[in-house]
Amino acid sequence: MAYNLLKGKRGIIFGALDENSIAWKVAQKAFEEGAQFTLTNAPIAMRMGEINKLAEQCKAAVIPADATSIEDLENLLDKSVEVLGGKIDFILHSIGMSPNVRKGRSYGDLNYEWFLKSLDVSGLSFHKVMQVAEKKGVLNNQASILALTYIASQRTFPDYSDMAEAKSVLESIARSYGYRLGRSQKVRVNTISQSPTMTTAGKGIAGFNAFYDFADKMSPLGNASADDCAAYCITLFSDFTRHVTMQNLFHDGGFSSTGMTEEVMEIFSKQ
Ligand SMILES: NC(=O)c1ccc[n+]([C@@H]2O[C@H](COP(=O)([O-])OP(=O)(O)OC[C@H]3O[C@@H](n4cnc5c(N)ncnc54)[C@H](O)[C@@H]3O)[C@@H](O)[C@H]2O)c1
Repeated sequence: MAYNLLKGKRGIIFGALDENSIAWKVAQKAFEEGAQFTLTNAPIAMRMGEINKLAEQCKAAVIPADATSIEDLENLLDKSVEVLGGKIDFILHSIGMSPNVRKGRSYGDLNYEWFLKSLDVSGLSFHKVMQVAEKKGVLNNQASILALTYIASQRTFPDYSDMAEAKSVLESIARSYGYRLGRSQKVRVNTISQSPTMTTAGKGIAGFNAFYDFADKMSPLGNASADDCAAYCITLFSDFTRHVTMQNLFHDGGFSSTGMTEEVMEIFSKQ
């Protein structure tokens, strides 16, 4: 059921790779809720062409941009304002990539060039998006900017590797830029810390299925789905959350506050 929560709002959605992507679900829900937006992803990710199906469904223009390139971001923001016919009310940063994770390098054997790439793509790019938007003056007052993160930024998880550091950077940028844009334009900036989710990025982590099952058993509500994550994103883009800013918001079925559950105890009791 739709509620017109984003009627009249204009946005930019980064990171819809295929129909499992969290950003894909956010785009579908934002469209249902009356928003107009552009879709963007790294040029290399567009070769699959999947994003065009989503664009058709959502009547959205697709504008390629490598989120680490200032030039691409400038072009993206200019073109978005042009095709949407006005300034921007919401931005979703749903981007993550670590060459070290992809290539299976252990935490004690990281390639530092790749480490910097992980930080740039998964963390710094959030700053770049906001800095370019601020300099261009393309944000409407009371806009809402959101990035997706994972609890490994705060507590250690095996095989999340340098993505943990990248997510810590991302969450810190949300606070620092949230302060700045809040003061100047009442713009809010938050991160959502999502449960493990079956997507291309998620499945790229070694042992992801075990991760996923453990988190599910450690969460009183079970793992949060990508669809539910999208619904939460919509509330944060809507006018019902105007004073929520500089927060890392857990959307994880209670995982982050749970010490032990009966399900996990049962597994160990059997042993
Ligand atoms: N899947 C999970 O378990 C999980 C859990 C918590 C948080 N997250 C976060 O959710 C976000 C979305 O990931 P997802 O799970 O939907 O997976 P996904 O693989 O569908 O999305 C990741 C996206 O990042 C894009 N990307 C990579 N490099 C880029 C670049 N240089 N410029 C622009 N885009 C680039 C990819 O093309 C892809 O669309 C990520 O930030 C991820 O870390 C995922």
